[in-house]
Amino acid sequence: IGSLVTTAIIAYLWGSIPAGYWMGQIIKGKDYDIRDHGSKKIGATNVQRTLGTGPAIIVLFIDLSKGIGPALLATFVPFFYGSGWGILVAGLAALLGHCFPIFIGFKGGRGVLTGAGVILVCSPLSFLITAITTIGTISIWRYVSLGSIVGCVTGIVLGIVFYLVGLLHPGFFAAVSLPQMLYMLIGPALIILFHRDNIGRLLAGKERKLGQKAENVP
Ligand code: G3P
Repeated sequence: IGSLVTTAIIAYLWGSIPAGYWMGQIIKGKDYDIRDHGSKKIGATNVQRTLGTGPAIIVLFIDLSKGIGPALLATFVPFFYGSGWGILVAGLAALLGHCFPIFIGFKGGRGVLTGAGVILVCSPLSFLITAITTIGTISIWRYVSLGSIVGCVTGIVLGIVFYLVGLLHPGFFAAVSLPQMLYMLIGPALIILFHRDNIGRLLAGKERKLGQKAENVP
């Protein structure tokens, strides 16, 4: 239990690193708060919208690594492994760190990239397939939020399918463990929940398309 608590704390602090917020300060000066602009989130999507594509790509990789790092720790470092449960604890803690970062008043992003980084470690095949459904959706409809939600649903379905097939066929190459499956269920479900305001805007036809600064007023 002690190691799981330590894992949770380290993963939460790691996930809390507010790359998008710092990017705003680096580019625009220390009084700039990206949370006053666009969707008011610190994720790569809002960085792209408010600061440009180059900075967004940097933030994209940093936010992805905030999921990969803690998940690798819990997968390969014995102390953090927690009988296999470390991945669930580390994954959710890193995700919550990104969404509620301790360093900037608990107002962060929606957790898409950090959450995806954890899935990459749990199940590289699921990461690949969710990346395809996400990027496919974004390229067709131009809404990053819609793509993220589609990716989350894909991740949930794959987590359940790969877990069940692994149970029925021991040795299945893409099998995920129970803690990995639970992460792939709870993580994406939380991310969908954190898209409540996007869902409202999508339904009202007001969501910003990729790169668009202001809300759509149809
Ligand atoms: O990463 C979150 C994305 O799905 C939507 O971001 O800034 O448009 O709310 P945003």
